Amino acid sequence: MNEPMTQRPRFRGYAPGEDNPVLETLLAHRSVRAYKNAPVPEHAIDLILEAALRAPTSSNLLSYAIVVVDDRELLEKLCAVCGNQRFVAECGVLLVFCSDILRHIHVCAERGYPYRGDQINTLFVTHGDAVLACQNAAVAAESMGFGSCMLGNVRNDPPAVSDLLALPRYVFASVGLAIGVADEDMGLKPRMPRRVMVSRNRYSSEHMEDGLAEYDETMRLTGCYLGRREPVNDVEPDYVDPFTDETYGWIEHTARRLGGDNQLQRRDLGAFLDGKGFSRR
Ligand SMILES: Cc1cc2nc3c(=O)[nH]c(=O)nc-3n(C[C@H](O)[C@H](O)[C@H](O)COP(=O)(O)O)c2cc1C
Repeated sequence: MNEPMTQRPRFRGYAPGEDNPVLETLLAHRSVRAYKNAPVPEHAIDLILEAALRAPTSSNLLSYAIVVVDDRELLEKLCAVCGNQRFVAECGVLLVFCSDILRHIHVCAERGYPYRGDQINTLFVTHGDAVLACQNAAVAAESMGFGSCMLGNVRNDPPAVSDLLALPRYVFASVGLAIGVADEDMGLKPRMPRRVMVSRNRYSSEHMEDGLAEYDETMRLTGCYLGRREPVNDVEPDYVDPFTDETYGWIEHTARRLGGDNQLQRRDLGAFLDGKGFSRR
């Protein structure tokens, strides 16, 4: 890394009309789930990893590890156990960000201290570290013009992912990041109105109802739910969906998702983490 790139920038990029390429990248973010059959050049992967490893890390514990996956056969296998989303098999490269306490266990044992990180806070710390590094990688990739999509589906079948990536005890896959040459542009996905998400000095849910209604309509109008509704579980075979394309929006979609059978698919994650040596206490 050459010297100028490691300098802190001077205050800039916030006055009206001033360029700010970092903000441009951040504000242009959209997930990409279709990739051209084209590699991500090795020097680009190298810079993406450099950016990932530059992410802040809780107490400088560096509680994560990154597995770079570019073996096509392995990508196919991962695709099969990560929700069968084709982009996993077809991306240029998949980075898997793992929560990792192996090194912590090692240094404590080596220096003769008991490892006292066996508490739920460690899960927040390690998963947080992994996700932050993942986001840095995503921003870096997008800044170079590549598309990316995070992959929480690495937690659909944790034992299978763990086996495929040879993750030892004390390491589990927190999140993946598919990167590649985009073969789609879905445009920006609308966000919840700011008044719902942001308050000042005190938390406020004052605008929840009206903001949700507004967002429901905004999302409905994108057409993203047409032919892509969440199923309703536990209903009679002759159940007729009372929602029309004019009434089915983010609220119904999200409520069905959170109240549906798909929420059950990761219910074994806790027991899996116990087995990996991550405490839930
Ligand atoms: C932690 C995390 C995990 C995600 N996992 C998946 C995934 O497994 N599959 C997928 O298609 N998208 C996944 N996404 C992408 C989200 O669906 C996407 O960010 C969200 O719908 C907003 O769309 P946008 O990123 O295009 O703005 C994930 C995003 C995050 C932050």
